[in-house]
Amino acid sequence: MSPTLDRVHRDLAVRIAKRPHADGTREARLLIEHVTGRSPSAQLVAGQDDVPVETIAQLEALASRREAGEPLARLIGKAAFWDFEVGINAATLIPRDDTGVLVEAALTFLAPDSHAHIVDIGTGTGIILLALARERPHITGTGIDLADEAVAQAAANARALGLEDRLHFRQGSWLESFDGPADMIVSNPPYIRIPDRATLSDEVRLHDPALALLAGDDGLDAYRKILPQAHGKLRSGGYLLVEIGHDQADPVSTLGAAEGFQVLDTRQDLSGNDRVVVFRR
Ligand SMILES: C[S@@+](CC[C@H](N)C(=O)[O-])C[C@H]1O[C@@H](n2cnc3c(N)ncnc32)[C@H](O)[C@@H]1O
Repeated sequence: MSPTLDRVHRDLAVRIAKRPHADGTREARLLIEHVTGRSPSAQLVAGQDDVPVETIAQLEALASRREAGEPLARLIGKAAFWDFEVGINAATLIPRDDTGVLVEAALTFLAPDSHAHIVDIGTGTGIILLALARERPHITGTGIDLADEAVAQAAANARALGLEDRLHFRQGSWLESFDGPADMIVSNPPYIRIPDRATLSDEVRLHDPALALLAGDDGLDAYRKILPQAHGKLRSGGYLLVEIGHDQADPVSTLGAAEGFQVLDTRQDLSGNDRVVVFRR
């Protein structure tokens, strides 16, 4: 006899909960949704339904990958950010809540009726531009990434959210292919020191793309490229906002000041760590 959906959910939740920091109950619901197409609330109603053996086999395979440390978002191919969901792929970072600090900071410089053109370099899934475009209905944006597959994913995410008329994505290295001027430039670049790679959790080290994480021996390589390029491609009075590692506010501010930027502000995340530096040209 096939087990019921409630039973399958319970067994999956117990397996997944063995992973440190995993929310077994919720993650099991999302895996079942991914495989069966039934939403978590529909699963509650259908708890006594039998589950076919093929479905159980698919779920068990996913649970094994989750037990082995693969992030849930990689298994279901999507992740939440701000107030929406995006598709992810092997070339994109899984969105981090901390990046919301950059979005919030950028919004303070964008009036509700802003028509600014914003350039996001290292756009990944496109989350920064997508969040800004949802909050400011008249802005336009260009998202640039070195990885073709990231560009394709960001464009698909914009289409899924109905933002493809205002946001465009293309392949390129930082601002090299952008003529400018931009009204605002935003970036969450790679900023992890290569020697620190071994200290990352398995979920990050083994499953996020290295191109999205690592930035030379001191973690500052991307800023060394971005800051001079951004100064040349930002209109006078425009803002550059970059996400940083918790101990990078001083060196990144110094690099920006050396390019002629005014260092306006440093914003902190919910843990009190420096997370964003704001520059003005
Ligand atoms: C930390 S991830 C951020 C992704 C996304 N913006 C976010 O906040 O989730 C950094 C991104 O920079 C991209 N990247 C790395 N080197 C680059 C380069 N030279 N030019 C453009 N993008 C680059 C990576 O492919 C990756 O998508």
